[in-house]
Amino acid sequence: MPTSDEASPRPACRLSGYPDRRAPRLAAGGRGPQTGASMLYNLLTLIHVASIIVWVGGMAFAHLALRPAVATLEPAVRLRLMEDVLRRFFLLAGIAVLLAVASGLGMVGLAAAQVAETGGRFRMPLAWNLMGTFGIIMALIFGHIRFALFGRLRRAVEASDWKAGGVAMASIRKWVGINLLIGACVVVIAFLGR
Ligand code: HEM
Repeated sequence: MPTSDEASPRPACRLSGYPDRRAPRLAAGGRGPQTGASMLYNLLTLIHVASIIVWVGGMAFAHLALRPAVATLEPAVRLRLMEDVLRRFFLLAGIAVLLAVASGLGMVGLAAAQVAETGGRFRMPLAWNLMGTFGIIMALIFGHIRFALFGRLRRAVEASDWKAGGVAMASIRKWVGINLLIGACVVVIAFLGR
C-alpha cells in the first residue's frame, strides 16, 4: 500500500509504504547514524507505546483482576477502596491519554513532513487512520468516565450513598470494559497493520 511517490529513492516503511528514515540504519545492521528527525520519531514511538502500556494495561488490571477480587466486599468498603484506587489511576491514565494522542499525532506530522521533503504526497495508511479514529474515541470515553461517572462515584462516597455509588461504579465498569476492548483491537490493528 504505497502512500508516496513511487519514484522515491528511499526504502519504504513496512507499515505505510512511504520512505522510511529508519531503513538505511537497519540496512547497515543498526549501526548507522541517527538523524535528528529519526531520533525524535523513535522518542515519540517510545512515549506512545509506554503511554498505551500504562493506559490499556491499567484498564486490564482494574477490570480483570481488581474488580472481581473486591466484588465480595461490603459496599461501603468496596466503593471507598475503588474510589481511592480509581482516583490515583485516572490521574496517571489522564497523563497517558494526553501523551498517547500527542505522540501519535506527532509521529503522523513527522511522517508527513518526511514525505513532503522527498517530494511525495502523504496519505495516511489505513492502520494509522483506524488507530487515530479509535484513539480519539477512546480518549472521549476516558473523559466521560473521568469527569462524569467518576464525579458521581466520588459524590456518592462522600455522602455515604452506597446505592448511588453502586450505580456509578457499574457505569464505570461498563465503559472501562468497552474502552479496554477497543484498546485491545487497536493494539492488534497497530501490529498486524505494520
Ligand atoms: C490519536 C490517536 C493515535 C494516533 C494518531 C496514533 C498514531 C500512531 C503512529 C503514527 C504510530 C507509528 C507507527 C510506526 O512508526 O510504525 C503508532 C504506533 C503505535 N500505536 Fe498509535 N496512535 C494513536 C492511538 C493509539 C492507541 C489508542 C493505541 C492502543 C490502544 C495505539 C497503539 C499503538 C502501538 C502498539 C504502536 C506501535 C506499533 C509498531 O511498533 O508498529 N495507538 N501510532
